[in-house]
Amino acid sequence: MEKVVVSLGGSIIIPDDRDGEFLSKFASVLSKVSEEFEVYVVCGGGKIARYYIVTGRELQATEDELDDLGIQATRINARLVQLALKSRAIQTVPTTVEEAAALGGKGKVVIMGGTTPGHTTDGVSAALAEKVGASRVVNATSVDGVYTADPRKDKSARKYDRISFQQLREMLGGKHGAGSSHVFDPMGAEIVMRNKIPILVVAGRDLAEMERAIRGQRISGTVIDG
Ligand code: UTP
Repeated sequence: MEKVVVSLGGSIIIPDDRDGEFLSKFASVLSKVSEEFEVYVVCGGGKIARYYIVTGRELQATEDELDDLGIQATRINARLVQLALKSRAIQTVPTTVEEAAALGGKGKVVIMGGTTPGHTTDGVSAALAEKVGASRVVNATSVDGVYTADPRKDKSARKYDRISFQQLREMLGGKHGAGSSHVFDPMGAEIVMRNKIPILVVAGRDLAEMERAIRGQRISGTVIDG
C-alpha cells in the first residue's frame, strides 16, 4: 500500500469556526482514503502552541521548556484528530517517528504531533516520510499553494503549479525574502529532497483538494518535486 504523510497545520485543526464540524468531515475523508493508502498525520500546534509559548516566555521559561510546551500542544491537537477518526485511528499518540512507523500498516491512520525540542511538525513529517518510505508529503496549510510573493501584500503575486527542489532550496535560502520560510520547514525540506519525496502544498480547509493530494491526483495547489 502506498504511504502518505500529511503535515496538518495547527490553524487547520483549530480554525476558530465550526471546529468540530470541520474535524468530523476531515475524519470522513481520512477514513475513506485510508482504505487505499497508509496515512500518517502529523499535527501542528497552531494558536494553542503559540498561546503557551508566549505565556511561558513571559514566565522566563527556557527555550527547551517552551519547545516542550509547543510539543504538548501539538499532541493534544493530535489527540483531538484521533477522537474525530474514532476506530479508524490508532488511539495513542506516538512520541517518536520510530514508534509511529511501527504502528502503521494496520489499516488504521497514525496521528502524532511533535517529537524533539528545536524541531517543527513539518520536520517531523519529513523524518516520518523518510522512515516509512512515503510516496509524498501533503503540506496542508492556511495558504493554497506557493506564491511568487506574499499574496496578502502583493496583488501581482501568482501561484506556482510546480516548483523544483532546486527552486525550493533557493527560496528557503532567503532569496525570496520573508514569508517563503512558510513553504516548509528548511530542515524538513532537506530530508524530503534528499529522499526525492514530493511535497504537495494545499489549502487544508479544502477537503476535496486534500483528498486529491493524498491520492496523488492533480491539485490546484503547488507540487514541489525533483
Ligand atoms: P509547529 O510545528 O506547529 O510549529 O509546532 P511552527 O512550524 O512554528 O508553526 P506554524 O506551522 O508556523 O503554525 C509548534 C511548536 O512546538 C515546538 C516548537 O516550539 C514549535 O514552534 N515543537 C514542535 C518542537 O519543539 N518540536 C517538534 O518536534 C514539534
